[in-house]
Parts: sequence; structure tokens; C-alpha cells
Amino acid sequence: MTFSDALLPYGPFAPHYVARQYVENYFALHQTDTLLQTNTAVEDVARSPATKHNGQGEWKLTLRRYDAARQVDEWWEEFFDAVILANGHYAVPYVPKVNGLEQYMEKYPGRVCHSKRYRSPKLYTGQRVLVIGNSVSGRELSDELVGVAKDSVLVSRRSPAFWEGDEPPPGIEWKPIVSEYKEDGTILFADGTALTGIDAIIYCTGYKPSFPFWNEEANGGPLFDYQSNKLVGSYQHVFFRDFPTLGAVGFPRTLTFRSFEYQAIALARLWSGRNARSLPSPQRQQQWEAERAERTQAQRKYFHDVPWGAETNDYLRELFNFAGLSTLAGDGLLPPPLTRKMVWEYEHVLKWKLPKGKGPHGGNDGLEEDTMMQLQLVVPKADPNSKAQGIHVEEGRGWVVVFQAEGTNSANAA
Ligand SMILES: Cc1cc2nc3c(=O)[nH]c(=O)nc-3n(C[C@H](O)[C@H](O)[C@H](O)COP(=O)(O)OP(=O)(O)OC[C@H]3O[C@@H](n4cnc5c(N)ncnc54)[C@H](O)[C@@H]3O)c2cc1C
Ligand SMILES: NC(=O)c1ccc[n+]([C@@H]2O[C@H](COP(=O)([O-])OP(=O)(O)OC[C@H]3O[C@@H](n4cnc5c(N)ncnc54)[C@H](OP(=O)(O)O)[C@@H]3O)[C@@H](O)[C@H]2O)c1
Repeated sequence: MTFSDALLPYGPFAPHYVARQYVENYFALHQTDTLLQTNTAVEDVARSPATKHNGQGEWKLTLRRYDAARQVDEWWEEFFDAVILANGHYAVPYVPKVNGLEQYMEKYPGRVCHSKRYRSPKLYTGQRVLVIGNSVSGRELSDELVGVAKDSVLVSRRSPAFWEGDEPPPGIEWKPIVSEYKEDGTILFADGTALTGIDAIIYCTGYKPSFPFWNEEANGGPLFDYQSNKLVGSYQHVFFRDFPTLGAVGFPRTLTFRSFEYQAIALARLWSGRNARSLPSPQRQQQWEAERAERTQAQRKYFHDVPWGAETNDYLRELFNFAGLSTLAGDGLLPPPLTRKMVWEYEHVLKWKLPKGKGPHGGNDGLEEDTMMQLQLVVPKADPNSKAQGIHVEEGRGWVVVFQAEGTNSANAA
């Protein structure tokens, strides 16, 4: 995913250093790099009693930066009119509590790790590996381990992922969730089966958001409720009922950079006083939060996850309508339209082939039953004599999607 006004000339699956460079360059593109202060940790965020704007007060931030020349940490305080929480939420690994896990880790040091620490399949050569979790990390890691690890890669699943069919992919064996780790090294599963001889266990169970800088005392309470897994008092995952000069960007996972853009524009419009629509009353905001909490809890979904499809559409439309147009003089970004092309890309440019009947619209989305999608990661040249069923070239992006009938040679197609 990219920002709407600076396409990433790489991809569609860019490595992390490319994504990092892209984000850094984005500041220069908008000539805001001089406002940017990097290598500075926010250690404390406290609402300051000093009133300034509309009686809202300011935010006092305690900051820390390492001074390499003097080899000391410099600490200082600064005041800000508004604060946006954009500190990410994939920094603190989450490992679910399982009977015996702590003792198992003590007895077999190094055997259990989290996907955050995973770097290469090489380390697992010839080992019998159990991967816990089957979301994106679980899938990517287990794919890499097939053929490197000993025997099938075991994947413990709590629920099926949307890209999974009725059978595991070749080289993978599915297991249910782990119910207990025994001291003799045996691993028990929820279906009563047991495993021994496991050399490595990789928890791909995701992350927990963390706000260690949030000063609960000064701000009157916690920012995140770990029981219900949600920001306290948020509206549309961006605004805060009790803190009009606090915002959050990056909570819903949908469309990553692109939805961050909608959120950031909505906040910028609000704070510059140029939003097209008002925020609803605090009572209506509270109602939104309560209803969403009840619904997501009943569906066993994460409060801040906005599923792809109608809900993403509604969510982005809400932010789009709230923000409204930029000015005639050109100030302010226009919230990017969710174009048909973009929706098509999102639904079709996939890393993994979906099983039959699990296409974006419940079927194969107009594709023949026996077609498959491939990505060519080189700049392609369409061959007019190609026997491929259809070629769609994204010019200048360095990649092409080829719908190829099974059995034809992809090298001929591109
Ligand atoms: C393994 C993995 C692979 C992924 N691959 C993809 C992918 O291929 N495509 C995709 O679209 N998304 C991918 N994602 C998701 C993507 O990384 C996130 O959606 C995105 O990085 C979120 O951006 P962000 O700016 O909100 O947070 P982050 O990218 O996490 O950035 C937060 C920043 O805040 C800084 N920060 C945190 N706390 C403080 C503090 N107290 N003081 C100062 N600075 C602080 C951090 O150092 C960091 O620079 C992946 C995620 C993971 C975990
Ligand atoms: N290349 C990429 O694009 C890429 C690669 C890696 C990660 N990411 C992103 O990074 C983020 C994190 O992904 P992730 O895969 O690390 O984590 P995740 O999406 O949060 O998935 C966590 C996995 O752990 C399972 N799990 C959680 N609690 C459990 C429990 N108590 N018992 C058993 N299983 C449990 C979940 O099962 P349920 O499904 O049943 O909840 C799920 O399979 C996502 O936004 C993802 O898109 C992107």
C-alpha cells in the first residue's frame, strides 16, 4: 500500500528497507523534513493544566535523545497543542498463556520464540518445527520453512484463515491449539493428541499495542483497555471523546498506508477548523463505541479491525465525508478516492492462491475455475501472441499480473 500522492515504485511486496526509505522520503516530498525530529523517544505524555486553546490545555511531552558525542541521554520537556499517537502496535509480542509454557521455556531454553525474532529459515534446517498461529506471520514463516525443516511443518490453528481451504498446503500439517506443555517435552493439543521431538516452536500470535509513555495519573486513566483490547473512549478509531486534541493513526489494519491517510487528513481538517462535518456529540460518540464493542465482542472480532468489503467502504466514506474537500487555493490534501482499480488490486494481487470458492466475491470473481494468478517481478513486455488468458500490465510499477491457464508456460506469457 502507498500514500495516494507518492506511488511506491516497487512492489507489490516491498522489503522493509524499501518501505522505510519510502516513508522517510515522503517528508522530503512535502518539504516537511525540517519539522521532523527523529531518534527522539517520547517518554511521557501528560495533559498540562495550562489552558490555551478553547480551554483544552496543552500536552507536555518528556523527550529523550542519545547524544553520541557525550555518550549521555539528553532529557527535556516540550509543550504541544495536539498529539497524534502513531507509535505502531506491532512492537510488543503477544504470546498466549498456556499451562506449563513458562516451565517448558526454562527447561528448554531457546526452543520457543516469537515471530518478531524470526529472521531466516536457515536456522531451522533439519529441525522439527511447530508454528503457532496461522495469520500472515504464521503463513509466511511456515511457507519458508517447508522443505527446510524436518518432515511437515506443524501449524497450530485456533481458527481457519480466509485463504485456507479444507486441506493444508503441501508440506504443512495442521494441529489445533496447544493445551499444555509437559516437563518431559511432550506437547498436548486441544483434541487430545500429543507431540514429542519438537526442536523449535515459533509463536506467530501477533502483538499487543503499548503506550508506556501515557501518563495515567495526569491524564485521568489508562489509554488502552487490555481486557477488551481497545483504545479507551475512541471514536472512529481516530478521535478521543475526552481529549479533543489527541488523535490516533494506524489502528484499523485495513489498507494500511491508505487508511492512515484518511485518518491523518480527518485529524488535520479537524484541528485546522476546515472539516466539512462536525463530530457527533460526546453521547453519540460513546454510543458508537458501546455498539461497536458489543458487536465485535459477539463476533469475537478485534474492536479496531475493520474487515475488508462493505465495512471498509463505510469507514473510509465516513472519514472522507468528515474531512471534505481541500481548499480552492490548494491547501490540504483531498482524501484519496477508493478507486475501482485500487479495489481490484487489493483483491487480486495476492501472495497466495485462494482456494476455489474463496475469491473476493465468494467465487473466482469472473476467472475461470482453472486459472491461477501469478506475479512477475520484472518489468514485463506484453506478447501479442501470448496464449495466456489475459494480461494486465501496470505500467511503470515494475510488475504485472498474469492470469494464466494452468499448464501454460509463464515465461511465454510475460
Ligand atoms: C512482520 C510484519 C510485516 C508486515 N508487512 C507488511 C507489508 O508487507 N505491507 C503492509 O502494508 N503492511 C505490513 N505490515 C503492517 C505494517 O508494518 C504496519 O501496518 C505499519 O508499519 C504501521 O505503521 P505505523 O506508522 O502505524 O507504525 P510503525 O511502522 O510501527 O511505526 C511506529 C513508529 O513509532 C516509533 N515509536 C514508537 N514508540 C515511540 C516513542 N515512545 N517515542 C518515539 N517514537 C516511538 C517507532 O520507533 C516507529 O518508528 C507488516 C507488519 C509486520 C509486523
Ligand atoms: N508481509 C506482510 O504483509 C505481513 C507479514 C507479517 C505480518 N503482517 C502484519 O502484521 C500484523 C500482525 O500479524 P501476525 O500474523 O503477526 O499476527 P495476527 O494477525 O494478530 O495473528 C495472530 C495469530 O495468532 C492466533 N492467536 C492469537 N491468540 C491466540 C491464542 N490465545 N491461542 C491460539 N492462537 C492465537 C490468531 O488466531 P485467530 O485467527 O483465531 O485469532 C492468529 O492466527 C498484521 O497486521 C499483519 O497483516 C504483514
